[in-house]
Formats: sequence, C-alpha cells, structure tokens
Amino acid sequence: MKKVILLLLFMLAASEAKYLDSKSCKECHEDIYAEHAKSMHHKSSIFGDEIHKKVKEISSKSNYSCALCHMPATKNLSAMIRGEEQPDPADVRQSDGVSCFYCHQISKVHHAKAYNINFSSASGDEKPTMFGNLKDPDSSDKHHAEHNEIYKNSEVCMGCHSHKENEHGFEVCNTKNQYDKRSDCIACHMPRAAGGNEKFNKKGRDEYTTHNFLGIRSDEMVKKTVKLELAYKNNMIELTIANKMGHSIITHPMRLKFAKTVVTRKGEVIWSNFKESPQEDKEATFIIAFKDSEGKPSMPHTAKDYLINQNLKAMSAKTVLYSVPKLQKGDEIKTTWISYVISPNIAQKLQITSEEATKAYVGAEESIVVQ
Ligand code: HEC
Ligand code: HEC
Ligand code: HEC
Ligand code: HEC
Ligand code: HEC
Repeated sequence: MKKVILLLLFMLAASEAKYLDSKSCKECHEDIYAEHAKSMHHKSSIFGDEIHKKVKEISSKSNYSCALCHMPATKNLSAMIRGEEQPDPADVRQSDGVSCFYCHQISKVHHAKAYNINFSSASGDEKPTMFGNLKDPDSSDKHHAEHNEIYKNSEVCMGCHSHKENEHGFEVCNTKNQYDKRSDCIACHMPRAAGGNEKFNKKGRDEYTTHNFLGIRSDEMVKKTVKLELAYKNNMIELTIANKMGHSIITHPMRLKFAKTVVTRKGEVIWSNFKESPQEDKEATFIIAFKDSEGKPSMPHTAKDYLINQNLKAMSAKTVLYSVPKLQKGDEIKTTWISYVISPNIAQKLQITSEEATKAYVGAEESIVVQ
C-alpha cells in the first residue's frame, strides 16, 4: 500500500510544472486572499505553525511525512516524505501551506485506509483551470474556471481531514462525518458574506464564499460547538451536552474541551464539578490520550491504543448527573463550555507558550436559578 501511495505521489509531483503562489491571487481576489492569509491553511507548514513544528521535531527527525497535508504544494513531496530532502523556508511552494492554487487544483479524492490522497489537475499550462462551485464563472486572463462537484459536496476537504493512521495502523485523528454520508463542511466553515468574489465583480454577484476557515481558535465558532441544558431536581443537577457539529467534539489529540459547572449562593461558589483539573469530572471532559505498546502514555506517532478516549460523536448528546447538597431558593447553577487548542499539560511538555495556543476559548453558557 505504502509503495502504491508513494508512486502516486511521484506521478503527481512529476506532472506538475507551473505554480501560482497565493499572493498572486490577491490582485483580483482581494478579500478572499486577506481571509486566507490569516487562516491556519496558510500557516499549516513548519514555517507558519509553531505547534506543528514542535510535534514534527519529536515525531520524525529527518523525514517530513506531514508534508502530505501540511505542505502539500511542495514540488518535491515524495522526497520530503522519505527524508531525502529537507524543508526550505525560501521556497514559496513550501511556506505557502495549504495554498489557494493547491486546493483549487484538487480534482478528485482517493479514499484509502491509512489516509486519503488528493489527485491534482495541475498540468503546467500557462493558463491553468481552477475548480470551484460558481454558477457560470466569468473568464479571467489568468486562469480558466470550471465547476467540480467536490467543491459543492465538501468531498474536497476529505483528502486531508478524513482520518489518519500512524505507522502502527492506529487511527490518531478523524474529522469524518458520522451522521450522514457527507457532512456539509463548507456550509459551517465557509459561510457566505456580502460582496463579490473578485475585485471587478463583472458578474455583479452579491455574495461570496469566505475563506477564514475558522475552528477552535475562534470564540465565535467555539460558541457553536455544543448546546448546554440544565435542570435541578431531587438534589441532582442534570446537565445535557449536545454536539452541534458535523464531527466528533475531539478531532485532534492535542485538544482539551470541557463543561465547567458551578453553583453560587449570594455570589460565593458553594459547589463545582471539579477543583483543580477538569479531568476530575470525566463525564463532562472531552479528551483523547494514547498509550504505546508497553501501556505507557505516548505521543500520536508511537500510539498503539487509547489511554483515554472521552469523545462525543457528531449530532449526538449525553446527560451528566451530579448529586449535590440540597440547594436553596435563589442559588444559581451555571455551566460554561471551555476549549484549549493544546491541553495545558501537553503545552507544558512541548514548552509552547503563545497566547493563541494556551488561552481558554469560552463557548456556550447556560444558567438556571433554583426556585
Ligand atoms: C492526512 C493528512 C495529515 C497528515 C499526514 C498530518 N496531518 Fe497534522 N493535521 C491535519 C489536519 C486536517 C489538521 C487539523 C485537525 C483539527 O484541527 O482537528 C492537523 C493538525 C495538526 C496539528 C494541530 C496544529 C494546531 O496548530 O492546531 C498538529 C500539531 C499536527 N497536525 C501535527 C502533525 C504532524 C507532526 C504530522 C506528521 C508526523 C502530521 N500532523 C501529519 C492533517 C494531517
Ligand atoms: C486577473 C484576475 C484574476 C487573478 C489574478 C486570479 N483570478 Fe480567479 N477568477 C477571476 C475571475 C474574473 C473569476 C470569475 C469570477 C466570477 O464569475 O464571478 C475567477 C474565478 C475563480 C474561481 C472560481 C472558479 C469556479 O468555477 O467556481 C476560483 C476557484 C479562482 N478564481 C481561483 C483563483 C486562484 C487560486 C488564483 C491565484 C492562483 C486566482 N484565481 C487568480 C480572476 C482572477
Ligand atoms: C491539502 C490538505 C487540506 C485540505 C484539502 C483541507 N484542509 Fe483544512 N486543514 C489542513 C491542515 C493541515 C490544517 C491544520 C493546520 C495547522 O493547524 O497547522 C487544517 C485546518 C483546518 C481547520 C481548523 C482551523 C483552526 O483554526 O484550527 C478547519 C476548520 C479546516 N481546516 C476546514 C477545512 C475545510 C472545510 C476544507 C474543505 C473545504 C478543508 N479544510 C480542506 C489541511 C487541509
Ligand atoms: C454543523 C456545523 C459544522 C459542520 C457540518 C462541520 N463543522 Fe467543523 N466545526 C464546527 C464548529 C462550530 C467548530 C469549532 C468548535 C470547536 O473546534 O470545538 C468546528 C471545528 C472544526 C475543526 C477544528 C477542530 C479542532 O478541535 O481543532 C476542523 C478541522 C473542522 N471543524 C473541520 C470540519 C470538516 C472537515 C467538516 C466536514 C466533514 C466539518 N468541520 C463539518 C462546525 C461544523
Ligand atoms: C482548503 C481549500 C481552499 C483553499 C486553501 C482556498 N479555497 Fe477557494 N474555495 C474552496 C471551496 C471548497 C470553494 C467552493 C465553496 C462553495 O461551494 O461555495 C471555494 C470557492 C472559491 C471561489 C469562488 C467564490 C464564491 O463566491 O463561490 C474563489 C474565487 C476562490 N475560492 C478563490 C480562492 C483564493 C484566491 C484562495 C487563496 C487566497 C482560495 N480560494 C483558497 C476551497 C479553498
């Protein structure tokens, strides 16, 4: 299987010639470029993402197998994956991350067990074809434009986001939809905004598809992760957590997400679901951790099994019951959803201190007052 995949990659790399970098799209697609330049797609390589760089350094010293999804536009993809060539910050095809050109050249996604593969239509033409979902696209002097169904049904996301197994055949991440054949990734992650998709807007379009690709680093998105519901009866607090997303709550093993519940009486906290660490309340904490062949805690690349697997699938809900001391009229019960890009103990181990990676993102809040 590995050999077949490497051969495929080689064929894709060999057929590719001319590359248009993301900056070159700015001339006409100004707003989309500005959104993309701030997104994690643009910053996905070791040159843009400190977290990715640190994890790469401990998991694979010489070879950069991660390039397949984190630096997919590089010309020497298979040499990079095998470790025969090293990343070069001066090469724009590498620092460009998941670039405009790369994404819009994907013509088909090949589904495989370890991870999926993107098929590229890049041909080396002076005037390449960009695939998309516009109705009756206008012509441009820089490229042709063509409709391709995978830019409508979100299949284009599945080349990189579906799933990934490590060398031991153990699945370490998964953003596959679980409630329907295909989840509408585009509807949730590329909302439409007012305006044209390019500067001149000759077609007079009044909306375009945004390219911020917001996720866990956005308070606004984190507020949409779950729906929380509270009830109090017979000295029991009943908390319902419903996952509103098209994928599991935990898609990537670096994350920590949980619901914090407190009871306050006259402004003072009299009860909480945990004291120091959210892990004290396993039912309301969502986290994945791995173990190696000896059962010891491990990083994803050496994982053989789960050490901890507390997750909740797409569009499903769970109810957590807390037995509390008898509450009085006027006591307030409040639950808050909190997310971390990197679980604080992993951040400490990897010595990652940037605010973006270590701060708490605050999501939905729900509260009731005892009657
Ligand atoms: C099959 C495609 C694929 C491969 C191969 C891959 N990744 Fe990723 N990686 C992703 C996707 C997709 C995400 C975003 C997942 C999410 O946010 O849920 C991601 C996210 C990450 C993150 C989180 C980054 C952040 O800033 O939030 C780290 C760290 C990471 N990958 C490390 C690696 C390392 C190290 C390798 C190589 C050993 C690797 N990945 C290989 C697809 C891949
Ligand atoms: C000289 C101006 C110009 C430049 C530079 C340019 N484009 Fe375009 N692009 C257009 C025009 C015009 C359209 C058609 C817009 C419409 O119909 O509303 C278009 C449409 C598109 C579409 C929609 C295709 C479809 O069928 O839905 C994509 C995708 C696209 N461009 C990607 C890119 C990328 C990626 C780059 C940079 C590598 C780029 N463009 C550079 C002018 C340009
Ligand atoms: C060529 C591979 C590739 C394709 C195709 C791709 N992604 Fe990604 N995506 C990534 C990688 C890699 C990351 C993680 C970057 C990082 O954090 O270092 C990512 C990150 C994300 C994030 C998280 C951003 C954040 O702030 O943490 C979202 C949301 C996302 N992608 C959605 C999508 C959607 C929706 C599609 C389909 C329209 C898509 N992606 C297509 C590789 C890809
Ligand atoms: C119903 C809306 C919805 C759909 C459908 C959806 N997502 Fe998300 N997704 C979200 C929200 C909201 C978040 C941010 C909250 C969070 O990360 O906890 C998110 C987060 C993410 C992240 C970052 C997760 C993390 O922990 O870093 C990635 C990557 C992602 N989505 C990719 C996808 C892909 C790929 C698809 C299609 C299979 C998809 N999403 C479908 C709503 C959705
Ligand atoms: C991760 C993949 C990905 C990246 C990176 C990406 N796009 Fe797109 N783009 C898409 C998808 C998917 C659509 C179609 C969304 C839809 O169905 O409306 C799209 C739509 C478009 C359109 C048509 C807009 C419309 O209103 O429908 C243009 C133009 C475009 N992209 C240009 C760009 C440019 C320029 C960049 C870089 C600055 C870029 N894209 C980066 C996935 C991507």
